[in-house]
Amino acid sequence: MRLCFASNNAHKLDEIRPLLPAGIELLSLAEIGCHEELPETQPTLEGNARQKAQYVFDHYGVPCFADDTGLEVEALHGEPGVYSARYAGPQRAAADNVAKLLHKLGTQLNRRARFRTVVALVRGRHEVREFSGEVAGTIAAAPIGRGGFGYDPVFVPDEGDGRTFAEMTLAEKNQLSHRARAVAGLVAFLNG
Ligand code: IMP
Repeated sequence: MRLCFASNNAHKLDEIRPLLPAGIELLSLAEIGCHEELPETQPTLEGNARQKAQYVFDHYGVPCFADDTGLEVEALHGEPGVYSARYAGPQRAAADNVAKLLHKLGTQLNRRARFRTVVALVRGRHEVREFSGEVAGTIAAAPIGRGGFGYDPVFVPDEGDGRTFAEMTLAEKNQLSHRARAVAGLVAFLNG
């Protein structure tokens, strides 16, 4: 089965590829000839994931799935949430987003947070499915590690050994991550 992953984020593609069964041929947006920016204007993760997957299906006729992820920080009342990518401005720069997050948290003792991912699968005009995954953790005092992307250098998952996601290998992050959990739901559905 050919399935496009509707994202221009190479890190996400690297994470997702090893999670899919051999029977699925994963296509990137470039491989289906989609080079434009995908619309992402909804107020929820669910809405954005659906919007991106639906756009690709409608314009390219290829079955596809998209993910949308947010980091929800308890002491910031769920910020940055659905605005995680543009938290520090439209340039969507990870270092700026992390700096703003750490600045807003300051010396706050409650550093509880979670990543939440919603995956939307669109295989037909009216065939849309959603899968979600989350991981709980804490926000580190300062960025640590060179792996991963986005907020990984400041996120320490509860189920880990105290390292941030950015200190882990891709396989280690995939054992625990929000995205791997959402993709597991997708894979179970596709296998079912
Ligand atoms: P989106 O799902 O691409 O819209 O991502 C929203 C924001 O969260 C972006 O700033 C990403 O860099 C960040 N983000 C998404 N997934 C992860 C992750 O697995 N780790 C760290 N940051 C992430």
